Amino acid sequence: MKAVIITRYGGPEVLEIQELPTPAPAADQVLVQIKASALNRADLLQRQGKYAAPSGSPENIPGLEFAGIVAARGPEARLWHEGQRVFGITGGGAHAEYIVVNERTLAEIPANLSWAEAAAIPEAFVTAHDALWKQAALCPSERVLIHAAGSGVGLAAIQIARAIGAVPFGTSRSLDKLERAKEYGLEAGVDLRVSLNLLTDFTNIETKGNGFDVILDLVGGPYVAADIQVLAMKGRIVLGATVAGTKADFNLGQLLHKRAHIIGTVLRARPLEEKIIATQVFAKEVVPLLAKGTLRPTIDSEYSLSDIRAAHRRLESNDTFGKVVLKIAE
Ligand SMILES: NC(=O)c1ccc[n+]([C@@H]2O[C@H](COP(=O)([O-])OP(=O)(O)OC[C@H]3O[C@@H](n4cnc5c(N)ncnc54)[C@H](OP(=O)(O)O)[C@@H]3O)[C@@H](O)[C@H]2O)c1
Repeated sequence: MKAVIITRYGGPEVLEIQELPTPAPAADQVLVQIKASALNRADLLQRQGKYAAPSGSPENIPGLEFAGIVAARGPEARLWHEGQRVFGITGGGAHAEYIVVNERTLAEIPANLSWAEAAAIPEAFVTAHDALWKQAALCPSERVLIHAAGSGVGLAAIQIARAIGAVPFGTSRSLDKLERAKEYGLEAGVDLRVSLNLLTDFTNIETKGNGFDVILDLVGGPYVAADIQVLAMKGRIVLGATVAGTKADFNLGQLLHKRAHIIGTVLRARPLEEKIIATQVFAKEVVPLLAKGTLRPTIDSEYSLSDIRAAHRRLESNDTFGKVVLKIAE
């Protein structure tokens, strides 16, 4: 099979397409022929040598999500049959023509979704749903603020918030992304390119001074101190990224006074059993809404496997709106 290989740490030029043996499924594993995958920030960091693959995942093949068909089953696999259309998340190795995964980490792709659309879904929607629904316990009519609202996860989170009956607000460093995000249900947004301080006035206007009940922070760094400022009493912050930095300086007194919760989350490094749970919840609660068209993926751009370097450059540009998809087979 062909696979993207990180030949050494560095820029996109270190990526090469190489031939590897196709893996064989053991026990309760399934071999999936990947039709399409998508890129994530973790792939960029892994390529740079800043985010090692979790245990059990290949060190040199990136790719955290895939859509494809069941090509073969291990001797104890019972849930799927050859030819079924499936998608899912994995700790790595999805930027390849084939992958072997545990059969319980798969969900069936609804018939209304193309391969590219299906590939644009798992990481963004599992992350957003898990963060807002499971971890922050977002309730109908609550106000939720989503940083990097035009990101793949951000656009999924806007739609999931609406599906819950909550009211999604967003930030970006691009007014254009905020305008486009309104098509996905964004109530209002603020462009923070000039200053993070603009968030205070925005919050006062949009929440009548009450603050946001939930904040999905997909940026980190100095955004965390701003989050605590604009959080409502008993508010919940779910921190899912550190793209703007790993350090925060904030007033602990404010945290106490607001009786606030800060929750950190990662998906890639979760052990298999937790990935299975996240997949089962996704299959039960999110996939039916994708089948109905209530939720829809956002594709920024599509690249073939041989254009993997260009795909990495596109994601690194920060100009993307939604997901960068990798087309692997017809
Ligand atoms: N915890 C988890 O389980 C999990 C899972 C998936 C993804 N993530 C993380 O969640 C974030 C969103 O993921 P994604 O795949 O949806 O990302 P994405 O589509 O690549 O979008 C990321 C966006 O973040 C904004 N951004 C980048 N650097 C920034 C900075 N220094 N300050 C402010 N904004 C910045 C940019 O948009 P603007 O134009 O708005 O600035 C960029 O387009 C990523 O950081 C990713 O690593 C976490």
